[in-house]
Amino acid sequence: MRAAGIMAASAGALAAGAAVLLTDRAPYPSGQRRLLDVPLPLLTRRRLDALLQPRAGEHMLEIGPGTGLQSLHVAPQLGVGGQLSIVDVQEQMLAHVLGRAEERSIANITAHQADARALPFTDAQFDAAYLVTVLGEIPGRLAAMTELRRVLKPGGRLVVGEFADRHHVTLATLVRLANDAGLHLVRRSGVPLAYYAAFVPCPAG
Ligand SMILES: C[S@@+](CC[C@H](N)C(=O)[O-])C[C@H]1O[C@@H](n2cnc3c(N)ncnc32)[C@H](O)[C@@H]1O
Repeated sequence: MRAAGIMAASAGALAAGAAVLLTDRAPYPSGQRRLLDVPLPLLTRRRLDALLQPRAGEHMLEIGPGTGLQSLHVAPQLGVGGQLSIVDVQEQMLAHVLGRAEERSIANITAHQADARALPFTDAQFDAAYLVTVLGEIPGRLAAMTELRRVLKPGGRLVVGEFADRHHVTLATLVRLANDAGLHLVRRSGVPLAYYAAFVPCPAG
């Protein structure tokens, strides 16, 4: 009886998550942010780690953290000498992540309310950057990819996660955008409708 209740609740949560993920609204409504805590199939944190490879002492950038599903997992891996900078257009999302980080005694996250198309950072500042189910919400995706390329160190890395929602960016489109921004694909995992893709800056020349 108890198991049936748990299954029904899980199915309900998944259905609600799926319904919201199919919304047309962008940026993702902060009032529905709790549903972002429902992990998406295949876009697991373990798969993100495998491509992003966070290391102690690194300075990393996350665009569009939402409720911090990835931030609260990545930041501790950067250690006290490392830092995770999170950027979101919605102040409520940033405040939510910082609140959850404080509850967990995670002190190496800094928040910046900004648009991915105009990042408030100097050139070549970050060891790595990532964004999960965000790119499709950004009008002017090439501008965002160009900004990400600008703030990455020459040996830096970028991981993009995409899921089959209304804002889905196909891998082919992503690779084209990345190439136009001066990045090239080095690895990917998942399936076409739920994938992570890793890029590095193209050599100057
Ligand atoms: C669907 S949520 C994804 C949240 C989280 N990455 C996850 O996987 O649960 C998209 C996030 O991107 C943010 N966002 C949308 N457009 C943005 C932009 N132009 N610049 C920065 N953040 C943006 C939204 O506010 C929201 O927090």
